[in-house]
Amino acid sequence: MTDQLTTHQAQEDARNASILIYVDGKIVPKAEAKISVYDSGFMLGDGIWEGLRLFNGKWAFLGDHMDRLFGAAKAIDLDIGMDRTGVIAALEATRAANDMQSDVHARLMITRGVKSRPFQHPSLSQSGPTMVIVMEHSRPKIPRPTRLATVPHIRGLPMSQDAKLNSHSKLNCVLACIAAQKAGADEALMLDVHGFVNTTNACNFFIVRDGEVWTSTGDYCMNGITRAKIIGICQATNIPIFARNFSLVDTYSADEAFLTGTFGAQTPVSQIDGRQIGDGKMGPVTARLRQLYKQMIEREVA
Ligand SMILES: Cc1ncc(COP(=O)(O)O)c(C=O)c1O
Repeated sequence: MTDQLTTHQAQEDARNASILIYVDGKIVPKAEAKISVYDSGFMLGDGIWEGLRLFNGKWAFLGDHMDRLFGAAKAIDLDIGMDRTGVIAALEATRAANDMQSDVHARLMITRGVKSRPFQHPSLSQSGPTMVIVMEHSRPKIPRPTRLATVPHIRGLPMSQDAKLNSHSKLNCVLACIAAQKAGADEALMLDVHGFVNTTNACNFFIVRDGEVWTSTGDYCMNGITRAKIIGICQATNIPIFARNFSLVDTYSADEAFLTGTFGAQTPVSQIDGRQIGDGKMGPVTARLRQLYKQMIEREVA
């Protein structure tokens, strides 16, 4: 399949070959940025992460990202070993070392750390957490609206692996994405345990019908920061917004559909399971929300 894309597609940037990466307090060249094969993140996917954007020298919605990160750490009983000020200082040190100012994406990862033996029990991680920050020059660039396919992998109940955890282990989402690609689409549209449309493997999902914006109830998906901002923008600008259950029948016949995520902001959807959505191009409500979100970011980093 040649014509496939991802919502995380970015312009090529040669500077990314020589970035510096934060690994446990040291900032080292990319080729030297390594962690132990005994690390809990590598062995078990036992860790959490955040994706952040830097514009105009400022991290957008930093407070929201720190809230989610520390909330997830508490939920999985992982002691980050530093407070919010420490985490932000590590981000800033990495930014300064790379002399980065704008159009930057950071992946901040924290795992339960290096294990004493190659087994699952969390008590085997005795040397404290591992923290890595990968920061790249990054301007999202997708050549066309994205195509989705529904897949057999669902967003499960919170008592298995809560979809609200930005966990290192994303195997469910990875398998969903593979299934969608095998079906000839770019990414996966995932249903919840009841069969209602929920989210994609890497982004939150919205449809537009008769001028109304619909998204899932939020029960089985990532509590996306961009999702929350779009809901807030709709409320502030009197665009009718509903967080509700809806099925594929409502979805296929929507006027527009789009995804949200920190990296790509709002990504238009052209096709779902071979059905064209609207006229297959970015619709007017999506375009307006993209503009309003861009203005929100500009205010945030002013
Ligand atoms: C499964 C999933 N859904 C949605 C999102 C988007 O969340 P946010 O808007 O906070 O980037 C992410 C991002 O990490 C994700 O992994």
